[in-house]
Amino acid sequence: MSALSIEDDAPFIWPGDDTSRAPYRVYTDPHIYAMEQKNLFQGPTWNFLCLDVEIPNPGDYKTTFVGDAPIIVVRTKDGGVNALMNRCAHKGSLICYKPRGNVQELTCVYHNWVYNLDGKLTGVAFRKGVGGKGGVGPEFNADEHNLVRLRVDTYRGLVFGSFSEETPPFKDYIGAELIASIDRVFIKPLKVLGYHSQMLPNNWKLYAENNKDSYHASLLHVFHNTFGVVRPNMGGGIKLSENGWHHLSYTERTPPNDDETGREKVRSLKEQYKLHDSTMMEHRLELGDLVTNSIQTIFPNLVVQQILNCLAVRQLIPRGVDSSELIWTVLGFADDTEDMTALRLKANNLVGPAGFISMEDGCVGGFVQRAAKADPEARTIMPMGGSGIEPSAGSRVTESAVRGFWKGWRDCMKI
Ligand code: FES
Ligand SMILES: [Fe+2]
Repeated sequence: MSALSIEDDAPFIWPGDDTSRAPYRVYTDPHIYAMEQKNLFQGPTWNFLCLDVEIPNPGDYKTTFVGDAPIIVVRTKDGGVNALMNRCAHKGSLICYKPRGNVQELTCVYHNWVYNLDGKLTGVAFRKGVGGKGGVGPEFNADEHNLVRLRVDTYRGLVFGSFSEETPPFKDYIGAELIASIDRVFIKPLKVLGYHSQMLPNNWKLYAENNKDSYHASLLHVFHNTFGVVRPNMGGGIKLSENGWHHLSYTERTPPNDDETGREKVRSLKEQYKLHDSTMMEHRLELGDLVTNSIQTIFPNLVVQQILNCLAVRQLIPRGVDSSELIWTVLGFADDTEDMTALRLKANNLVGPAGFISMEDGCVGGFVQRAAKADPEARTIMPMGGSGIEPSAGSRVTESAVRGFWKGWRDCMKI
């Protein structure tokens, strides 16, 4: 698929040689949004589609999106996974319009064209007409009208799709170091505990950046700092893939720093606040380390989250230039006791649209979106930790991973 380019009448010049500045136009320009569909979401990227465990049986399907493109992810009869564009080859209707289900084949409701689970067109209603009249001509070749099929790669129960032949295998796409951090969390077969979804009043990239922005966590999220999930003086750091596109930010309990006297003084901190019931903050160590908080992004649309015992994946879907949808799939392990499930669900009050440490992320992107419109050629600055894209062993007070996001964006967009 050939890349779109910025139109001559709307020249786009990236400010500077690095990615420490981004023009506000990237959040507001419909032409850039259209370019992202072709060059990034349908470009050389792996996009999260669903979890293996959501479609366990042959014929189970789930509908989702890669960028604006509607997708059916379906378990095949031989146990594989296919990802098909959810768009009929005839007149372009959605074929599956429910979130999930089980089918033997895929039948379009509009004129009943039928596809098998590989997306092959197997039936055309009234193909030979009625009573010798009508129907398609002899030149009609069904083999030319199959559903668009994506490449699929799965890793530890995560299912990804790519439109591009250029995307390297998933393991190479994110690299060994970040593969290791998926291995660290997904140690056993998974179980879905539930879902949250929320509409964000902002361009998808503002939420993508927010996840890579470890600098804001202890400042915007007062709960974090007050009750101790994340404080800037805790151990931890930032890891980045070699190309900068993907990241991991983590914090760990390191006893010398993790005490009350080491609390960073920030203006919003209310030291007198105490939880009446602190069991929501209980943390049972289960992953072989002392990490309290691990946020991993896989460019462009996935976050893998471990906050205490609260495990989730977050899928980001653009919904127009100034809107996006965030879907949280809350996870446990298949062999969890009832007690452990209850603990995970209680800790889940921390996250989601109204979560104590995530509700602010649902509105702060909207604050930027509203302020960005007026002056598209003005730009943000991301100076924390310099201007490079490097991992950080000791500190999370850096915007290095956000600069890495913009590198990924520029690599795909060819800007
Ligand atoms: S649009 Fe699907 S059969 Fe006509
Ligand atoms: Fe946040």
